[in-house]
Amino acid sequence: MAKPSHRFVCQSCGTVHPKWQGKCEGCGAWNTLAEEVVEARAPGPAKAALGGRRVEFVPLKGQSSPPPRTRTGMAELDRVLGGGFVPGSVVLVGGDPGIGKSTILLQAAARVAEAGKRTLYVSGEEAIEQVRLRALRLGVSGAPLGLAAASSLRDILASLEEERDVGLVIMDSIQTVWLDSLDSAPGTVSQVRACAAELGRLAKSRGFALVLVGHVTKEGTLAGPRVLEHMVDATLYFEGDRGHQFRILRATKNRFGATDEIGVFEMTETGLAEVPNPSALFLAERRGNVSGSAVFAGLEGTRPVLVEVQALLSPSAGGSPRRQVVGWDSGRLAMLLAVLESRCRMTLGMNDVYLNIAGGLRINEPAADLAVAAALVSAATDRPCSPDTVYFGEVGLSGEIRQVAQTELRLREAAKLGFSAATLPRRVARGGRALSAPEGLRLSETGHLADLVAPFAAGATRKPAAKEKAKPEPAEAEFD
Ligand code: TYD
Ligand code: MG
Repeated sequence: MAKPSHRFVCQSCGTVHPKWQGKCEGCGAWNTLAEEVVEARAPGPAKAALGGRRVEFVPLKGQSSPPPRTRTGMAELDRVLGGGFVPGSVVLVGGDPGIGKSTILLQAAARVAEAGKRTLYVSGEEAIEQVRLRALRLGVSGAPLGLAAASSLRDILASLEEERDVGLVIMDSIQTVWLDSLDSAPGTVSQVRACAAELGRLAKSRGFALVLVGHVTKEGTLAGPRVLEHMVDATLYFEGDRGHQFRILRATKNRFGATDEIGVFEMTETGLAEVPNPSALFLAERRGNVSGSAVFAGLEGTRPVLVEVQALLSPSAGGSPRRQVVGWDSGRLAMLLAVLESRCRMTLGMNDVYLNIAGGLRINEPAADLAVAAALVSAATDRPCSPDTVYFGEVGLSGEIRQVAQTELRLREAAKLGFSAATLPRRVARGGRALSAPEGLRLSETGHLADLVAPFAAGATRKPAAKEKAKPEPAEAEFD
C-alpha cells in the first residue's frame, strides 16, 4: 500500500504546490495555501482500455426540446437564470458575505414552494431559528418550504435520497458542508469540490435544481467559488456595495441562457425588492446643471441601463496627481486622459482626477468612453453638459470615436426616460439599413473627440489648472 502524500493547495485559485510557501504561484495571493493529504493510488493496469464499455456516437441532430423551467416569479432573477431554474442543473450563487445571498434565495425558494414544487433549504451557516426569523421579516414564513440546518454531506445526501419529487434544493453555503472521508477542513478546496460534485450528481440523477451558495472572501481563507465555476451549469454573482441599497445579480456563466445578463434589486427592510426600471433608479439623484456629470447610455446583457458618470478635477497639491476611480477601469481613464491631452490639446495632467459611476454600478463596456470624456471635459472647463443628453461611444487612441453595439436599444431607453438628445459615434455607411431613432431625439454624431471638446472649450469659464510641461507618472488607484 502506497503512503499518503501531502500537498499544499491554494484556497483561492486551487493551484497545487508540493511544498508550503507564503505566496501562491498561481494567483499571487499570500497565505492561502492549506495542507491536504492525498491517498496515493496503487499503480493501475497499463492498458487503460481494459474493461471499458463502448459508448455510442450519435448524430448532432436529434429530438430535444428546450429544458422545462421552474420559474421563481421574481422576474429579475428569472431573467438572469435565462427563464428560471432548469431541473437537474447546478447554479452557483457567489458574493461577498452579507450582500444578501441568503435573503434572495430564501425569497425565491419560498415562491417556488408556494407554487407547489417541493423545495428544500439546507442551512449550514445559520440555525433554524435564525432562518425562521429572516422568513418572518421577509413575510414568507407561511411558505411550505422544507428547512434543515445541517453540514454533514453524508446526512444531507441521505435525507435528499429519501425525498420524493423535489423541485429545488438550496445549499447555503457550500463552504460549510464537509465530507468526513476527507482529511481537510470544511471550506477547503478539496472539501468544496468533493461536496459540490456529490450534490451535483444527486441533482442530475434526481432531476432537481440545486443552488450552491459560495462566499467570496478577500482574504482567501475559504475556498472561493472560482474553483467551482467549471463544475456548475451557471454562475451568478451578487454584487453591490453594502453602503448602497442596490444589488446586482450578474450571470458570468450560463449553460442555459445568456451571460452578462443582470438583475437589479434594492435591499429594503423587508428583503430584496425587484427594480424593473434600473435607469430611473440610477438617475434618481442626479442634479442637472452641475459640471462634471454626463449620462451614459449603457448596456448590461440584453438590457439598456442609463447611469450617471461623475468626474471631479482639482489642482494637485504637488507630487504626482491622483487618479481615483470607482466603478470603472483606471487603465481606461489613464488612456482617455492621454487622448484628451495629446489629441484635443487639453491640459489635465497636473490635476487630481476623481471618477465615479453613481449608484454603485460597475461598468465594463468600452462604450462608456465618450460619456467619461464628456464628464472630464465638463469638469475641466466647469461647464455642465446638457442635462437632456446621453453619451455613448468608444474612443480610440487617435481620438476617433468608434461604433458600439445596440445603438437603437440605447436610444430607445434614452427617449423613454425623457432625454431629448444623444451624442454618439458617426455612422459609417455600410450599405445596411438606416438607423431608426426614436422620434424627438436629436442625434449628434461625432467622429472625433475634439468635436466633443470644442463647444466646451469655446465657453470655458475656468482655466485648466496648470501649464507645466513635465507630466509626472500619475499614481493610480482603484476602489472596488
Ligand atoms: P444575507 O442574505 O444574510 O447575506 P449573505 O447570505 O450574502 O451573507 O443578508 C444580510 C444583510 O442584508 C444584512 O446586513 C441585513 C440585510 N437585510 C436587510 O436589509 N433587509 C432584510 O429584509 C434582510 C433579511 C436582510
Ligand atoms: Mg448567508
